[in-house]
Amino acid sequence: PPLHSMINVADFEVVAKGYLSPTGWAYYAGGAEDEVSLMDTRRLFRMITFRPRVLRPVEPVSPAVKIMGYPSSLPLYISPTGLGRYAYPNAESVLACAAGKEGVIYCMPTTSAHESVFAARSVANQPLFFQLYTTRERVKAKAMIKKLEALGAKALFVTVDSPVLGRREADERIKVADGIEVSSGGVAKAGSMGLLNPMLSWEDLKWIRATTSMPLVLKGVQRSPVLFTFYVQLERRSLTRSLSQTVEDAVLAYDLGVQGIVLSNHGGRSLDGAQAPILTLLEIRNHAPHLLSPTIRDKFQVFVDGGFRRGTDILKALALGASAVGIGRPFLYSMTAEYGEAGVRRLLQLFRVEIETSMALVGATTVEQLVPEMINSERAESE
Ligand code: FNR
Repeated sequence: PPLHSMINVADFEVVAKGYLSPTGWAYYAGGAEDEVSLMDTRRLFRMITFRPRVLRPVEPVSPAVKIMGYPSSLPLYISPTGLGRYAYPNAESVLACAAGKEGVIYCMPTTSAHESVFAARSVANQPLFFQLYTTRERVKAKAMIKKLEALGAKALFVTVDSPVLGRREADERIKVADGIEVSSGGVAKAGSMGLLNPMLSWEDLKWIRATTSMPLVLKGVQRSPVLFTFYVQLERRSLTRSLSQTVEDAVLAYDLGVQGIVLSNHGGRSLDGAQAPILTLLEIRNHAPHLLSPTIRDKFQVFVDGGFRRGTDILKALALGASAVGIGRPFLYSMTAEYGEAGVRRLLQLFRVEIETSMALVGATTVEQLVPEMINSERAESE
């Protein structure tokens, strides 16, 4: 179908399903095991509603934000996704190029042709982020970090939710159908080309922190009570500058000099049963609202990803205090059917229209005006 007939994410998804090989579709669309987390992540958005303000002049509307200090024309970034080639040749370069033209940031995955992606930037000084899966060998991880630093990556997103690969049964079934024997025991075989590191620990993160000057973001944080402790520590430390012994995960994160976290369950692909990331955001909102306050955003940002398909989904996260959201699968789908760069740009423009329209309809002309009072999350929280 002609590109102009695509008017939302779901349209691209339908086209992608028809276009992709069974292997490609299974890999992109699938989630872990019973896909409870995958479905829940979408379902929860429906349980959160708006409480819009009326009679507020809403022209012009600006959905621009800063992400890790870099301007973004939209309150979203393109999440790192592997194996883009099922959708389009050199998919990661296409994503980088399209992102530049639309003024948004792309976070490239570990498994991309790093130099080519940088070469594909379409705007001078276009910021690119890099997602890291650390290998077991520090030598290799260090070489990769140093290479990306030299190329000019502006932030390092370290994925922490996948010490092993989640069991994605759709992928397994395709392998079985192709006559490939699927290992029935142990997680090691699923070690994804040796990229994942089952031994990844806080010690490694300390080491990563010491290895690079790039801002560090932990991708795949799912626990909020820990973050509460974190905030208290953050506040105390900034007052006293004390560097006392740490006790909780997030305190460690702060000690490590982390500049951000992504609340994520890896798009429902790692631990099935992990809660919808928007719920984690709600928990933070309830128990540690200061963590989401605009005043700490130059030090520390909270991002969220998983299941964002509509401008309204994005608005809900922003109103609850997220700095921006990550979006994965839709951009893969947007490149299929030979749409390539034009498809990605079209999808970004559709997101822009949806975001601007719904901002006007809730009564906000800037992202700062999206506030928790505009959200009714009672149903989501009472489940
Ligand atoms: C991913 N994701 C991912 N994350 C990561 O840190 N490194 C990676 O290489 C990949 N690869 C990958 C491939 C595919 C096909 C998908 C769908 C996802 C997870 C990704 O960054 C992000 O967390 C989710 O995709 C967000 O959910 P949505 O927007 O896809 O629902």
